[in-house]
Amino acid sequence: MKDFLLFSGSSNIPLAQAVAKLLHTTLGKVDLSRFADGELRPWIQEDVRDKTVFVIQSLSYPMDEHVMELSLMGDAIRRSAPRNMIAVIPYMGYARQDKQHRIGEPVSARVIAKFIEVSKYKEVITVDLHNDAIVGFFQIPVSHVTAMDVLTEEVKKLSLARPVVVSPDVGGVKRARNLAYALDVPMVVMEKKRFLDRHDTSESFEIIGNVKGMDAVIIDDVISTGGTIAHSAESLKEAGTASVTVLASHAVFAGEAKEKLSTAPIDTLIVSDTIQLPKEKLFPKLRFISVAPLIADAIASMIK
Ligand code: R5P
Repeated sequence: MKDFLLFSGSSNIPLAQAVAKLLHTTLGKVDLSRFADGELRPWIQEDVRDKTVFVIQSLSYPMDEHVMELSLMGDAIRRSAPRNMIAVIPYMGYARQDKQHRIGEPVSARVIAKFIEVSKYKEVITVDLHNDAIVGFFQIPVSHVTAMDVLTEEVKKLSLARPVVVSPDVGGVKRARNLAYALDVPMVVMEKKRFLDRHDTSESFEIIGNVKGMDAVIIDDVISTGGTIAHSAESLKEAGTASVTVLASHAVFAGEAKEKLSTAPIDTLIVSDTIQLPKEKLFPKLRFISVAPLIADAIASMIK
């Protein structure tokens, strides 16, 4: 096994610790202090020379600070001659800005990819990107792992009587189709409309397919404001579903998400721990599954 070191940025230390534990190690020492004016000043306090170094950092809120941490930690490490340096990004913020939706906007996901490369990371491990094509924004190798299998196992444990997988929008059809295939159940699609002049707002949900008396299993990659999922759950209930289960890889839970999701007609909401949520954002029907084993496996395959 290659000599390796695991560091964590500040975005999701519990997940990084869980990964370290599975790899029978502890997190490397790093001081992430700031100057009085707010500038970040990372200080790597381990000998990284000739080691394979992993930096775990979810690009969750506050994403700009977390991008900067990942970037500056990379620069600090590469100046001490590691053998290899890998960015482990359980949640890639900005991934939903993967195209220019209108003239005058950036393709932010591509800019983030360049940030990571310019910080001299040589490889990336990431979980459930919003769009598979984002892998192509990187010129370095990307190991794109998915929480889909663990989410699928959780649904099986629920022993739903008549499951039907629901894609909350046309963009998520491939994801939903894979889940429906894994569960060997039918799938329906919802039509969601977004308005470019209104941020984070979705309206108008129409179900394409029959769900009456069935147990809906909505699958999405990201839950941000909770609008998509809450509207979908309401429409499904109106259409006569027996129950609504929601699965998502990344629980961003921005703004009023907790209020929307906890009052929506959802029976169970299962998300992964790619993002560390503060206690105030938790509620009883919310359950977590950990992606630590997936990440630990991806790391283990690079150090064997
Ligand atoms: C959109 O394409 C994504 O897959 C999610 O459906 C969306 O980002 C969720 O956002 P919100 O929770 O704010 O409706």
